[in-house]
Amino acid sequence: MEAKDFYSLIEKRQSDRKYSDKPVDKEIIERIINAARLSPSACNAQPWSFYVVTNEEKRHAIAQSSSSKLLGINNFTMQAPVHIIVVEERENFTAAMGNMIKKMHFSHFDIGIALAHLTLAAQAEGLGSCILGWINEKKIRQILGIPSSKRVLFDVLIGYSEDPLREKKRKNSNQIVTFIE
Ligand SMILES: Cc1cc2nc3c(=O)[nH]c(=O)nc-3n(C[C@H](O)[C@H](O)[C@H](O)COP(=O)(O)O)c2cc1C
Repeated sequence: MEAKDFYSLIEKRQSDRKYSDKPVDKEIIERIINAARLSPSACNAQPWSFYVVTNEEKRHAIAQSSSSKLLGINNFTMQAPVHIIVVEERENFTAAMGNMIKKMHFSHFDIGIALAHLTLAAQAEGLGSCILGWINEKKIRQILGIPSSKRVLFDVLIGYSEDPLREKKRKNSNQIVTFIE
């Protein structure tokens, strides 16, 4: 792959909020999850697990739980044929020590990077995605039988996008970069 192809992938990845109801092949989902599995993490702790929900009843229940008509938030989630529920798992001993010494919570960074891999892999497969942080953690735990000792952090929607490509709204480089030469 040439560098330009990678940058073009980044340009094309966006939060898609309109999906066709075409199902996604399991092998494709497995490849996307593998991209997240291979992502880096502090002390290689890999503090994550993924529940891939394609079951219609369960994904609709999850979608309903994270949508708020009142706040106008996440009302599009019913359409997505795949919900990847991201669970924070315990870090290993070294990462836990690192957290304590550095006063950090490295797991959340690790999971953020894994989600970047996941969403870019989806884009490479010609799929749209949307990371949802506004979710009903308690309801999702109930629906999927996830123990209350674990944190459910995100729901990543995956599906064939029907959302047109938008121009990115971002700060300019000169607002965020300082070169010290
Ligand atoms: C951690 C995180 C949580 C997010 N939560 C939501 C969400 O609950 N609902 C939603 O519609 N978009 C959500 N987004 C998508 C952001 O709104 C989106 O990434 C941002 O506006 C930039 O747009 P783009 O992804 O289309 O480039 C989330 C993104 C991230 C990284």
